[in-house]
Amino acid sequence: MTLLLGDTVPDFSADTTLGPITFHDWIGEKWAFFFSHPVDFTPVCTTEMGRTAQLAEEFAERCVKPIGLSTDDVGEHLKWGEDVNDTRSTTLRFPIVADPDCRIAKLYEMIHPGESVTAAVRAVFIIDSDKKLRLSMTYPMTVGRNFDEILRVIDALQISARKRVALPADWRPGDRAIIPPSVSDADAAAQFPKGFETTRPYLRTVDIDAA
Ligand code: BEZ
Repeated sequence: MTLLLGDTVPDFSADTTLGPITFHDWIGEKWAFFFSHPVDFTPVCTTEMGRTAQLAEEFAERCVKPIGLSTDDVGEHLKWGEDVNDTRSTTLRFPIVADPDCRIAKLYEMIHPGESVTAAVRAVFIIDSDKKLRLSMTYPMTVGRNFDEILRVIDALQISARKRVALPADWRPGDRAIIPPSVSDADAAAQFPKGFETTRPYLRTVDIDAA
């Protein structure tokens, strides 16, 4: 079953480096950044794990809990974690799911047989506190993810949800937002009393920091 945006993500119970979890309960009232990597003790994965650990405060500020997964067991995750900490000068504090039988990787379609039948690709699922899928993306084994983009898209998703706006190409926090076509001019005027700019009837922007 392909997971689509807006779907409730499948729940599961699993062992992790921080003990057993049931996924939905573990997410609780926060959001989750659930990401898979192919194999422990590999170079690109080491940089990604380290980067996630280094960004702990950035995720926490956004009320997002990171959680990794690969098809290795907890013992391997823990041993490799020491390498990640040493080589990336950080401390892993988020859980990594053990999935040696690929049960969860298959549930989330993280196994792409064109890449490998035993290891997960670099899948990302951003999940909200209602356990709904807000974003998914998939990178191949050979290319590490861009964590600036992961934080940027979390910001965009959270602002879009809070303020009923859309965000343009290459949007960064502080940039103008877009008023969606589903919002009438009258409703936009009520929502943004300091005004908005109309470039085309369908292209209206607003300074959400001033609003
Ligand atoms: C890596 O993390 O470096 C890696 C893992 C699996 C395949 C290719 C690269």
